[in-house]
Amino acid sequence: MHEKDTSGLRIDRDRLYRMLQELGRIGSYHDERLGLEGVNRLALTPADGQGRRQVVAWMEALGLAVTVDRIGNVYARREGRERDLAPIMIGSHIDSVPTAGIFDGCLGVLAGLEVVHTLADRGIDTRRPLVVAFFSEEEGGRFGTDMLGSAVATGRIPLADAHALTDRDGKRVADELAAIGFLGQSDELLMPPHAFLELHIEQGPILRARDMEIGVVTGVQSISWHELTITGQSAHAGTTPMELRRDAGVAAARINLELRRMIASGEYGQMRATMGVVQPGPGLVNIVPGRCTATVDLRNPSDEHMRAAERDLLAFYDRVSAEERVELQWRQTARTDTVAFAADIQERIATISRRMGLRHERIVSGAGHDAQEMAVLCPTGMIFIPGERDGISHNPRELSTPEQCEKGANVLLHAALELAQAT
Ligand code: GLV
Ligand code: MN
Ligand code: MN
Repeated sequence: MHEKDTSGLRIDRDRLYRMLQELGRIGSYHDERLGLEGVNRLALTPADGQGRRQVVAWMEALGLAVTVDRIGNVYARREGRERDLAPIMIGSHIDSVPTAGIFDGCLGVLAGLEVVHTLADRGIDTRRPLVVAFFSEEEGGRFGTDMLGSAVATGRIPLADAHALTDRDGKRVADELAAIGFLGQSDELLMPPHAFLELHIEQGPILRARDMEIGVVTGVQSISWHELTITGQSAHAGTTPMELRRDAGVAAARINLELRRMIASGEYGQMRATMGVVQPGPGLVNIVPGRCTATVDLRNPSDEHMRAAERDLLAFYDRVSAEERVELQWRQTARTDTVAFAADIQERIATISRRMGLRHERIVSGAGHDAQEMAVLCPTGMIFIPGERDGISHNPRELSTPEQCEKGANVLLHAALELAQAT
C-alpha cells in the first residue's frame, strides 16, 4: 500500500497547550509567595484520580481502547494495520510533586495524544499500533519510591511489594488505587513494545543556556535514595550539658554537610546530593531532638562513582552514629543504575530535529523518568525541550512556551510515525 507523504505533518500547538493548561487546573493551588498557580496532584490522591479521569476522557474521545492494569498504569491503544505487531508506545506520567508546574510528565502524555489526534485528523493509519501510556507514582513523592508504575510494568518491582507500600499516614497503594477507581484488571507485566518514546521538559538549565530547542537524551544517571531514622535522646535544651547530648538532629545535619564535602572533594565525579526531608522530633524549640527522619538523594552519571559514594556514605553513617551516640537505621527506598538509550533512536531524533531545522544537542538526563524503566524492555528514547526560567522544575515557576512544546511534540510525532511505519 502506498503511504501518504507525511513529511510536512505538524501537531496543533494551541490544542496541545490548551490540554496542558486544562489538566494543570486539576489539583491547582495558589502559591502566595510566588504569586503563581502551582499543581499538587500527588499520586493516587483524589486530585490524581480527577486528572486521570480527564486524560482517560480525552483518550476515549479519540476512539482509543483504554486499559488499566493492576498498578493503575493506563494504556490507550490505536490499532495499526497489522494488529499483531508490537506497538510503538509513547508515555510518561501525570502525577506530580506537591509543588509542581503543569509540564512535568503531562507534556509527554498529552503530546502522545496530540500525535494520535494529528494522525486521526489527517486520516493517517500506521502499520504498527500506537499506545499512549501514563504510569502511576512516577514521582515517588507519596509512597517513597520513584517510577513505581513503570518499574512494576517492567518487572523490577513485584506487584505485591508495590501494592503494600504505604504513605506517611499508613495508606496502602492498593487501597488508594481502589479508592480513586484505578485498581485495574489487566496484567501489570507489559509485553515488550517495538519501541518506547518519552517527550519531557529538561528540568534543568542546560538547553536554555545553550539556546538549544531539542535535547537528544543519551541516557539517565544513576539514582540512590536512602531513608534515615536516627534515634538519640530528647532532653531539656537549657539544662543538658552539650557533652551529654544524643542529638539526632545534629547527626542528620552532619550527614548533610558530609554530602557537600564529598562533592567538593571531586572524588565522586559529577555527584549530586540532596537531603530533602529533615524532620527532627519532637520538633520543639527547647527540646534536644531525640529522633530525626531524613532522606538522602544521590545522583551520578557514573555507576562506579555512585558505588564509591554509597560505600563511603555508609561508613560515615557508622561514624556519625558512634560520635553522636545515636542509633542510625537506613533503608534503600530507590536504586537504579545509569541507563543508556538506544543509539538508533537517538540518531533518529537527531535526524528529525535536523530535518526540521531545530537546534539540538545530546544531553544526559539529570532527572529520573519512566523511559529508564522501559529501556529494559525495548529500544527507548527521550526528547527534551528547554524550560524558559532556567529550566526550573518541581516548582510552580516551571515553564515551557507553546512554541517550545510544539517543537518537541513535532519531533515526537515524526519519531513515532517513522517507527510505526517501518518494515
Ligand atoms: C523524578 O522526578 C526524579 O528524578 O526524582
Ligand atoms: Mn517527570
Ligand atoms: Mn518530576
